[in-house]
Amino acid sequence: MTKPVVFITRNDFPQPAIQLLGKYFTLKCWQGEKNIPRETFLECVKGAFAIMCSHHVHVDGEVADVAGESLKVVSCFSVGYDHLQVDELRKRGIRMGYTPGVLTEATAETAVTLLLATARRLNECYTIVRNNQWTADSWHPFYLAGQGLEGATVGVIGLGRIGLSVAKKLVPFNIKRLLYYSRSEKPEGAALGGELKSVDEIVKESDFIVLTVALNAETRHIINKERINSMKPNAIIVNIGRGGLIDQRALTEALLNKKIGGAGLDVTDPEPIEPNDPLTTMDNVVISPHIGSSTFVSRNAMGDLAARNIIAVFTVKCWPEEKPI
Ligand code: DGY
Repeated sequence: MTKPVVFITRNDFPQPAIQLLGKYFTLKCWQGEKNIPRETFLECVKGAFAIMCSHHVHVDGEVADVAGESLKVVSCFSVGYDHLQVDELRKRGIRMGYTPGVLTEATAETAVTLLLATARRLNECYTIVRNNQWTADSWHPFYLAGQGLEGATVGVIGLGRIGLSVAKKLVPFNIKRLLYYSRSEKPEGAALGGELKSVDEIVKESDFIVLTVALNAETRHIINKERINSMKPNAIIVNIGRGGLIDQRALTEALLNKKIGGAGLDVTDPEPIEPNDPLTTMDNVVISPHIGSSTFVSRNAMGDLAARNIIAVFTVKCWPEEKPI
């Protein structure tokens, strides 16, 4: 029997995952150094059984149609799957895989990193030291004074795996209140002393607001102008979900007008952020280039899971006589 084809949108996914896939499938892989152009992608997926892709690649009904009946699974090397047109793929019976669980800690650590870096003004500290501006006369009692977590109110929007891990990491900083937004009360949230609140209440009451929800039609611009305007003047907002969760124009305006304290962003809208975007030069904004889950351990585990998701469809759903590994 000829092996079905898996089309892989990058040649630098973790090697063990690729080797694993190679045991079952014929692998076709985009070799370019840049993200695969749409036209090339459409050409390459023809006749594929599976597509393994990063979050940069939009997979919609057109891709499914061009790939044809052979396409049974789209496997994301990411926990977010807003780059998939889920309804179109589901309609055609195409399975979808993603990588929850294995990147929870890495991504939650990024949230904490951005929160602390923004709160303690690391951008400014770094720039001052780099530019040899730390002089003998620099010091005064409030030199580079920032905000601490002790006694603060922290609001986590989205208490899924990552949100919960962020909350668990922040509670030991002696925060005063943990607020969380979720569709329903979560025992894990209550166990941490957390209070279930609406998004409106969270944005009004929190000193630190952490966004961990997935991006979808309901959550797009969950942080809009009105909500930004209702934040405390010291509020720091951290986003490790997707850039589209925040109305970035409204955020920029609020930061320029010093209406809120700062922002720590691992994700922006668009990505990459425009070179001259004012957010890139603000002292109170710390931006990382969408590296939330990027630890060696997590990325290898994501590769493994993305590969196994394809194999699972092959062995369990399509060819039940094949033994799952
Ligand atoms: C994810 O897993 O969704 C990340 O944002 C992409 O690496």
